[in-house]
Amino acid sequence: MHESTGHKPYRIKVVEPVTVLTAPERHARLTEAGYNVFNLRAADVYVDLLTDSGTGALSQEQWAAMMRGDESYAGSRSYERFRAATDDIFGFRFVLPTHQGRGAENVLFSVCVKPGDLVPSNMHFDTTRANILANGGRPVDLAIDEAYDPRADHPFKGNMDLEKLERALEETGEGRIPFVMITVTNNSGGGQPVSLANVRDVSRMAHRHGLPLFIDACRYAENAYFIREREPGYARTAPIDIAREMFALADGMTMSAKKDGLANIGGILALNDRILFERARERLILVEGFPTYGGLAGRDLEAIAVGLYEALDLDYLADRVADTRYLAVRLEAEGVPILKPIGGHAVYLDAAELLPGFPAMSFPALALTNALYLEGGVRGVEIGSVMFGSEDGTNPPARPRMELVRLAIPRRMYTRTHFDHVAAAAGGVARTADRLPGYRIVEGAGPLRHFFARFEPFQRG
Ligand code: F0G
Repeated sequence: MHESTGHKPYRIKVVEPVTVLTAPERHARLTEAGYNVFNLRAADVYVDLLTDSGTGALSQEQWAAMMRGDESYAGSRSYERFRAATDDIFGFRFVLPTHQGRGAENVLFSVCVKPGDLVPSNMHFDTTRANILANGGRPVDLAIDEAYDPRADHPFKGNMDLEKLERALEETGEGRIPFVMITVTNNSGGGQPVSLANVRDVSRMAHRHGLPLFIDACRYAENAYFIREREPGYARTAPIDIAREMFALADGMTMSAKKDGLANIGGILALNDRILFERARERLILVEGFPTYGGLAGRDLEAIAVGLYEALDLDYLADRVADTRYLAVRLEAEGVPILKPIGGHAVYLDAAELLPGFPAMSFPALALTNALYLEGGVRGVEIGSVMFGSEDGTNPPARPRMELVRLAIPRRMYTRTHFDHVAAAAGGVARTADRLPGYRIVEGAGPLRHFFARFEPFQRG
């Protein structure tokens, strides 16, 4: 089928029971969790929108392929099928499987980021940023200004700002930038797409400065769908061809197969440079595994090989984006402010808009995240001053430019009845927003504190 019919392109064959706790039970669980939803038990969550990463449902074709998993240590048949798919779609000379996206980042960064190096991107994701920092590098975000304005309407709000990039490339000393990175779609900025024209310009600029371009490709299929929808000249181009055109502009990629690989685990590092590949391969053997399995079981490689194609299917992509839009429209009808335009994998609630005058140091997006759990057993994730801010040695403390709560949608998993429940819960929170408590950190520091920190609420004056 070439054009989307607007009908759900699958039906449900296997079910997983979920339960709703009572409000007092949710209260007790959140208190035990130190007011950090990462510390909750999944069994205590009703609709889990913490992440779209590795949480989706597998298809019957993926399960069938997994039965063919070849668990040989070296040169497995599953690796051959994984290679055939990655060669066909991405087209890089060298490919290494990794246990997940950050495994690919760690291997790449540890062989080419030196202490003090600058790594420009439109916007690094939290683990990407932390992996660069861990290697002594300096991650820098150079997205267009619109990316930081939750109200700004722009078809490709994930785009890199070319002037900012040019300035960074000119001003940074020779040899102090190992590569330029671009994240498609821009997760930290709202799941916003990057245009092919922008990737082309960034690629040209990087190459003019003698630098390679790496794509963080986690959600490249959703990005291809937006290009087809919004970029002139691509309305009839198949997502796979848009993807091929994009990857042809780059020198390599890191990818979490837990997103647009439609797998529960896995990652990909691909590149064209032989010397870099040989160093990466050596590192991979140390930290991930032999180059034909890279920390994965053969059956995981099979799930990815099938999932990569399913994620590029037009009916699948149309349904995915329609689901995200459905949730967004329902939230708006409940008076909940959201980031616009609506991205691919998630809806982002604008906590700063919902909670005017709520100081960043009291963590407004955390307050909203926690209130959503208390109201409806819904788990989202804070993308604000807990994740990207810092009190450590900076005065005034570093603050991100937006306070968001991400409701990420697992692939092929929830129904619109679940989304109706989420919207109703968010509406309930919005109507009593002026009564939300502030939070202070009682435990946890550093760039990954959002994963484990513990908090306590306090009544605002
Ligand atoms: N890059 C981006 C843009 C991501 O969104 C993620 C993960 C990674 C890299 C790392 O991949 O988890 O397989 O190691 N994002 C998840 C999320 C965790 O919830 O958005 P990973």
